[in-house]
Amino acid sequence: MKTLSDLLAEGVAGRRVLVRADLNVPLDGDKITDDGRVRASVPTIKALADAGARVVVTAHLGRPKGEPDPEFSLAPAAARLGELLGTEVALASDVVGPSATTVVGALTDGGVVMLENVRFDARETSKDDAERSALADELAAFADAFVSDGFGVVHRKQASVYDVAQKLPAYVGGLVETELGVLRKLTDDLERPYVVVLGGAKVSDKLGVIANLLAKVDRLLIGGGMAYTFLKAQGHEVGTSLLQEDQLDQVKGFLAEAEKRGVELVLPVDVLVTAEFGNVEHDVVGTDSIPAGKMGLDIGPKSRELFASKLADARTVFWNGPMGVFEIETYAGGTRAVAEALVKSDAFTVVGGGDSAAAVRALGLPEDGFSHISTGGGASLEFLEGKELPGISVLES
Ligand code: 3PG
Repeated sequence: MKTLSDLLAEGVAGRRVLVRADLNVPLDGDKITDDGRVRASVPTIKALADAGARVVVTAHLGRPKGEPDPEFSLAPAAARLGELLGTEVALASDVVGPSATTVVGALTDGGVVMLENVRFDARETSKDDAERSALADELAAFADAFVSDGFGVVHRKQASVYDVAQKLPAYVGGLVETELGVLRKLTDDLERPYVVVLGGAKVSDKLGVIANLLAKVDRLLIGGGMAYTFLKAQGHEVGTSLLQEDQLDQVKGFLAEAEKRGVELVLPVDVLVTAEFGNVEHDVVGTDSIPAGKMGLDIGPKSRELFASKLADARTVFWNGPMGVFEIETYAGGTRAVAEALVKSDAFTVVGGGDSAAAVRALGLPEDGFSHISTGGGASLEFLEGKELPGISVLES
């Protein structure tokens, strides 16, 4: 793969460079609630601008339906990027239309502009190769080189990630290079015990990664909504907790496989239960006595201690997914306990993207308490699952 350093060494002054960034940040109205992905995008964009390139940033936000939708405008991300770069970042009001052409045309050396949410164009996520290719041609027409720096989307075969890399000289960005380096440490070169903590709502999102990890980890800790399907598979009643009945057989298979391989699979032993989602009044019960009509919203104090003890001697840890509904303070304790155990640990600790990265920052934990906080949730899971990442393989070919 050619890298950002290679591009800088070639010289970029006066050249137009298209950068695919992942600026898919959580918003409350038009306020960014966690700017981690914007901050992570700065070094590559800044290196190019400082070297005199004319930088055109393309990115997505959320999942609009292939047409302009003000709710998904990149305006907050463009404003935040401008603040962090200390320069104005003009935002085109379309993806590849007249506004984009004007904004890109007005770029001067060292300037940065942004195209509106690339998913406002239905061709971006089309399954039809020709449609994606046509959008990629229009994006490519804005630049002389392409830098792939949106790690959170490298698992997507989309026009601005995959197809455009075939239309221009393509380079891997600094963020993607760093992220890949960290993930390779988890697959090729790891120190044991290797402990993985998985949480989040749905076990169905994690099937592939669990299947793959069972062959690699020493311990697998499971919390969050997905734990209830495991508890049910072990024969426990889970009340009205999140349950994926259709995954029970698969999960029973995981329990058997873990036993066969000698992988310690650790489930919560107690949980915080309540009658209605969002209620702050709750009881703490053992996972063998979750009452009918109640749902678990966080792992309980004994589970927090148990999980911390299972992390204490780890040399390598990967964590993806919150342990409970951390957005509600009452149910944030489990996620906080795991995060604190990682901060305390001197293992190589990686927080895998999305909600767990946002949780770490929302709970006010020091970012430098972890070896790496990934910007990609789905992408890092697919990497660990051993899947090919289209946005990476296209750069290698
Ligand atoms: C993410 O939030 O994980 C990335 O930005 C990818 O978004 P997507 O899942 O909508 O493709």
